[in-house]
Amino acid sequence: MEKLMITGGRPLQGTVSISGAKNSAIALIPAAILAESEVILDNLPLLSDVAVYSEILEELGAAVAWEGSQMRIDPSSIKSIPMPNGPVKKLRASYYMMGAMLGRFKEAIIGLPGGCNFEPRPIDQHIKGFEALGATVTNEHGAIHLHAKELRGTKIYLDVSSVGATINIMLAAARAKGATIIENAAKEPEIIDVATLLNSMGAIIKGAGTETIRIEGVSELHGCRHSIIPDRIQAGTYMIAAAATRGNVLIDNVIPKHMEALTAKMQEMGIGIEEYDESIRVLGSSSYEHVDVKALVYPGFATDLQSPMTSLLTQAQGVSVLSDFVYSNRFKHVPELVRMGAKIRVEGRSAIIEGGKLNAAKVKAADLRAGAALVIAGLTVSEGVTEVSGVEYIDRGYDHLVSNLRLLGADVWRQTE
Ligand code: EPU
Repeated sequence: MEKLMITGGRPLQGTVSISGAKNSAIALIPAAILAESEVILDNLPLLSDVAVYSEILEELGAAVAWEGSQMRIDPSSIKSIPMPNGPVKKLRASYYMMGAMLGRFKEAIIGLPGGCNFEPRPIDQHIKGFEALGATVTNEHGAIHLHAKELRGTKIYLDVSSVGATINIMLAAARAKGATIIENAAKEPEIIDVATLLNSMGAIIKGAGTETIRIEGVSELHGCRHSIIPDRIQAGTYMIAAAATRGNVLIDNVIPKHMEALTAKMQEMGIGIEEYDESIRVLGSSSYEHVDVKALVYPGFATDLQSPMTSLLTQAQGVSVLSDFVYSNRFKHVPELVRMGAKIRVEGRSAIIEGGKLNAAKVKAADLRAGAALVIAGLTVSEGVTEVSGVEYIDRGYDHLVSNLRLLGADVWRQTE
């Protein structure tokens, strides 16, 4: 086990280049199962979740070649093998195996997903979608069994606009008979990315990025080459880290449009933001205004940036209120920030944050974004060494975090526990 050691207090300076999006990558890799020939994914992030997914595909018989930021997946020899245990258990996003296997083989047995368990994360909307398409879905000893004689297109209204359910239904419906319409679909950029890949594979999907997605089923899909969109959550994390350390950082390889909710909030705090075609400069200063933030589905403020934002708001003057309307209790970072001297209390879905100085402490990341929040907090503390354990969570979502931060001038290193 490793931990991150941080001596903070240095303003981050320089340029950081953002890798491809984790939450796209872990849907695009299983999407390749639906093709009959090679799928090439470019701009792939180097993350443990991606490594687990390549293990899952290899177990099914796919030929996977991963070099640098490119993965070549030849799914032509994939077989329908039950996966009640093994690597599927390590990942929450292994739920995409259900839609992909159902689409290709009309059957699947997939162990219930693991991953970041910051609160109960049901998959009832995924199952509702599969059943509407004609599949029988049962939970047997902790594994989901799916089977369909035939998948038939239909209209599905999602009770909650779930990212995972929207993508999973697109995967299964891409090779169903007839048209599927998803209403109240999630609108996150990663959904457009998956639809773009599927369309390049020969699928007919329209409306991705809006609340109504129409999928015209086709009998076969082929290989293609696709470049993954930049990771907006990684980008946002570096933007927040730049501001929290009162630095000056150019965040490169981003789509500024994806960052609008965050840039607007940062500007409201008095942080300097310069937007370019594919990059954003964050100019920190010595004093920030308090703000209220509401995490919502896209294009609202991303829940995945809620924890990092908590750390930034400890650096603002006055009291900020940060509420999460996507997850009701995603606040595992708060007690750890409090150990660092933060004045934060949680009331229902909200964290009430009073600005003030933090101090170094030994803290533990309980999930991926909580880990990012603690690293940012550590970067603001100049006296002493902040130790962040639970690095395995951070490695799930941040490509080259330590080397990137070091390039920006931070004093950060990994140490074996
Ligand atoms: N929900 C249900 N039923 C369902 C599915 C979701 O009630 O069947 C609820 C959830 O409990 C939650 C809300 O709907 O309250 C939204 O969940 P969603 O399904 O959109 O989340 P997800 O697909 O499981 C993805 C990301 C998360 C990110 C959320 C929200 C992946 C693999 N994960 O999760 O990313 O927080 O969307 O944007 O794409 C992260 O990267 O740290 C992370 C947790």
